Amino acid sequence: MQELAEKLPQVLANFGIFGAMGKQYKGPLITEVEFELNKGSKFSAVEKSIKDIARELGVSGIRVAEIPNSTYISFELPNPEPQSVPFLPLSEQEEFTGSKYALPICVGVNMRGVPVMKDLSKMPHLLVAGTTGSGKSVGLNSFILSLIKKKTPQELKFVLIDPKRIEFSMYNNQAYMLRPVITDMSVASRCLAELGAEMNARYAKFEKDMVRNIGEYNEKHDVKMPYIVCVIDEFADIMLFDKTVEKQVQMLAQKSRASGIHLIIATQRPSVDVITGSVKANLPTRLSYKVASATDSMTILNTTGAETLLGRGDSLLLEENGTLTRILGAYVSNDDIISTITPYRCEIKEPEVSGAIVPSGNGGSVDVPQAEPKAEKQGKSMWARLADWWDRIGRRRQNQIINWIFVGLAWGIAQIKEWWLDSRDSSEVRQSVSRKNKKNK
Ligand SMILES: Nc1ncnc2c1ncn2[C@@H]1O[C@H](COP(=O)(O)OP(=O)(O)O)[C@@H](O)[C@H]1O
Ligand SMILES: [Mg+2]
Repeated sequence: MQELAEKLPQVLANFGIFGAMGKQYKGPLITEVEFELNKGSKFSAVEKSIKDIARELGVSGIRVAEIPNSTYISFELPNPEPQSVPFLPLSEQEEFTGSKYALPICVGVNMRGVPVMKDLSKMPHLLVAGTTGSGKSVGLNSFILSLIKKKTPQELKFVLIDPKRIEFSMYNNQAYMLRPVITDMSVASRCLAELGAEMNARYAKFEKDMVRNIGEYNEKHDVKMPYIVCVIDEFADIMLFDKTVEKQVQMLAQKSRASGIHLIIATQRPSVDVITGSVKANLPTRLSYKVASATDSMTILNTTGAETLLGRGDSLLLEENGTLTRILGAYVSNDDIISTITPYRCEIKEPEVSGAIVPSGNGGSVDVPQAEPKAEKQGKSMWARLADWWDRIGRRRQNQIINWIFVGLAWGIAQIKEWWLDSRDSSEVRQSVSRKNKKNK
């Protein structure tokens, strides 16, 4: 790494870029090298040649950025041995546990290794993009777990939409769920419409109570109104199934901030047919993992750079005020998810009629079953517990186990076949021997 930084001024000079090196900061993923351009040199010239500079240095994925309120620019050079940042230890740090945010999210660490915490309620929605394998689903899981760690099931409910059917299956039957994980796209668009209705019902209540938002409402009432966070993994799948969801998402994104309903929308295709202008305009906070092209980066962040990210959780966060921060996302494993959510298991059923999530009675709370932690475990048959366990382990593990079973079966069948062939051969030998004996007699 030291070498790369040493080579940098010479390589820059080859491109006619001159200046002075500044400080260096080594983070988990990259080393940040500050550089002050000579007077009159243009940053845009550096930006234009960055791919060639990277090639001459012999590495891919160098990013250059302006440092706000400073005369320096920074080159971000990838470390030869990138480290990942596990979620659970990060979420136990004081910055997170002590945070007073309404909906605190532990996003990861910045390029110097400092934890980055944000408030979803301020964002107030989040648009996430990145190619397959860039770390979107891991990111979504870390946001969900962050919220679960800080909020009770009475304060917070999730609506999880997962067209791929693999990412969220372990959240089924959690006290935090407003309804089971949605994998059917027709249900998804109906559910978004129901969230719109819920939002309007909430505003009607606020008006009656003469309060402006969910925070003020909850201060006045003993029965709290829960925040609702709707997470969509792969928005493109819904958009292509049913174009009307665009209107619903737009309406929610525009108006739901004060009602405590927030959206986190992820897509691998940030193209304009998926993220239309009207949706984009209402989702000012955006997180981009590695994308395929500079055009995709422009679509999501209004600037290039996300195409040079390194993958595996490396991301750029664009905030409402326009600041852009590079963040390494926290890594969440399947076991982290299971250990965090297991205490909140309970039965969650599909709401029976459309609009069922809109509270009909007074009290202003969504009517959902409460958690029955652990107690339900006793007195269950072995089969019920086995079925529970099967539900809980998630699709990936299920697939793994099914694979093992098949491999085991194939091995067993091969053994039986060998044994059968062996025994047939030996009985044939016996028969021929006895035939010979008879002849001899
Ligand atoms: N924050 C991270 N730190 C380390 N590795 C990560 C991180 N995020 C993702 N990965 C790696 O990348 C793989 C793909 O991530 P995933 O979230 O499934 O991508 P996507 O949903 O964008 O297709 C993961 O299985 C993991 O190995
Ligand atoms: Mg994914």
